[in-house]
Amino acid sequence: MQTLGEALKLAIHEERQNIDIEVSGYRGCYPPPYKGVDVAQIDSRLRDVLRAICKGLRPWPLFMYGDSGSGKSYIGSHAILRYGGWHINTNAMVEMMQQAMKGELYYESGYQRSRSEVMDAWAQCNVGVLDEIGERKQVTESHYDLAKQVVDLRDRVIKPTVYISNRDPEELVEIYGDPFVSRISRGTVIEINGDKRRGEPTRFEVKQ
Ligand SMILES: Nc1ncnc2c1ncn2[C@@H]1O[C@H](COP(=O)(O)OP(=O)(O)O)[C@@H](O)[C@H]1O
Ligand SMILES: [Mg+2]
Repeated sequence: MQTLGEALKLAIHEERQNIDIEVSGYRGCYPPPYKGVDVAQIDSRLRDVLRAICKGLRPWPLFMYGDSGSGKSYIGSHAILRYGGWHINTNAMVEMMQQAMKGELYYESGYQRSRSEVMDAWAQCNVGVLDEIGERKQVTESHYDLAKQVVDLRDRVIKPTVYISNRDPEELVEIYGDPFVSRISRGTVIEINGDKRRGEPTRFEVKQ
């Protein structure tokens, strides 16, 4: 049986011949929260839905929302571990861009890193996982503008992107407004509940 990872790899190869997954320079740049993921542990019916997305039978992007601890970040980590990319929290991404705009962001080598370099790296990475959307109930105008740009960048390149939030779309609309939420939910939307840490089984519903 084809694993989620294999399916995703195939999908990326088929649609984006020019991406060399294995040698992506951004691999591990923003490592995922989970260093080891056992794909067999992901609910098998949920895996089927994820495979359908990877095979192009369901649209990207993937937007997952629901209870904290339901395994959303775990799924995101799986994709990144296999193909490289960014798994980054929304606040961290926005703060990074703000820092770069102030000229206060540096590469490890000591070179200054510009906002456009950050944006290009995010736009070009194989898989982008934007996690913890709506972590804070109130966002500044600058945060809002930058978060919108972050979503726009992935939209433009048409690459696999996973959006994750512990808040439901209605709550997110209150924070980010309708256009933003429409953007992230224009592909496949899955609500996932249950707390893995307490041994609760995953309950999920494909909303769209
Ligand atoms: N499919 C899974 N199999 C085993 N453990 C899992 C699985 N998904 C998540 N976990 C564990 O459950 C906890 C919460 O998962 P996480 O992905 O961080 O939840 P969320 O991002 O939805 O808040 C973590 O400790 C993680 O190791
Ligand atoms: Mg999480």
